[in-house]
Amino acid sequence: MSFGEPLRYLETTDSTNREALEWPEASHGAVVIANTQTAGRGRLGRIWSSPPDRGLYLSVVLRPEKSVPLPQISLVAALACARAVERESGLLIQTKWPNDLLWRGQKIGGILCEANAERAVVGIGLNCNHDTADLPERPLYPASSLLLATGQTHEVARYSQAILRALETDFGRLKAADWPQLRAEFSSRCATLGEVVPIQQGGESFYALAESVDEDGALLVKTASGARKIVAGEIIGNGRA
Ligand code: BTN
Repeated sequence: MSFGEPLRYLETTDSTNREALEWPEASHGAVVIANTQTAGRGRLGRIWSSPPDRGLYLSVVLRPEKSVPLPQISLVAALACARAVERESGLLIQTKWPNDLLWRGQKIGGILCEANAERAVVGIGLNCNHDTADLPERPLYPASSLLLATGQTHEVARYSQAILRALETDFGRLKAADWPQLRAEFSSRCATLGEVVPIQQGGESFYALAESVDEDGALLVKTASGARKIVAGEIIGNGRA
């Protein structure tokens, strides 16, 4: 069965990730899409602003035969989305470790992977036709949309189809043990690597040179006091602060 079968389209829900996690009979590749979310979830407990008729709010259920580490799923999802959005829009789309989508350093989309005992869910938010007033105000890390980047409106359904095709291809590659190549492709699109970036990990903040993404999907950085592996931390802002 291909990605997007079955597909549930909801006019409104609290969160497509919550729906996908709790959909009892959802098989591998099942998808939930909503026109708006009342409690869209972002990473690290943040809210994902989800106004109606503006954005793509999509969650895919993954039930791989063999378990796959969530960081790998998350980086592969970011790579697939970046490629699909770039192809459809003509904009140069980069990733920011672990899984933001950037256009010229501004956040245009984000991915939240969640899992329960029986499935992983990849939740994708893409700012398509958001105007400035629809976007959260973030001085350190400005957000943008396809509309603001191009001056044109974009058909949301085209992006959901392109993203689902790209996810199906890249998760097929992951299943076929192509992780080393996928990791290399993610790394070459990653705006963060080679830059000195502010990092937050637990209660601690520090600057570090982001050097590479390792085989576990973690970010390897160099600080004044030595090398560190960032597994669950975050680069503050767009890394250009
Ligand atoms: C982030 O950058 O913080 C991740 C944002 C992920 C948002 C998407 S929108 C569809 C799916 N449903 C949710 O509640 N969240 C994800």
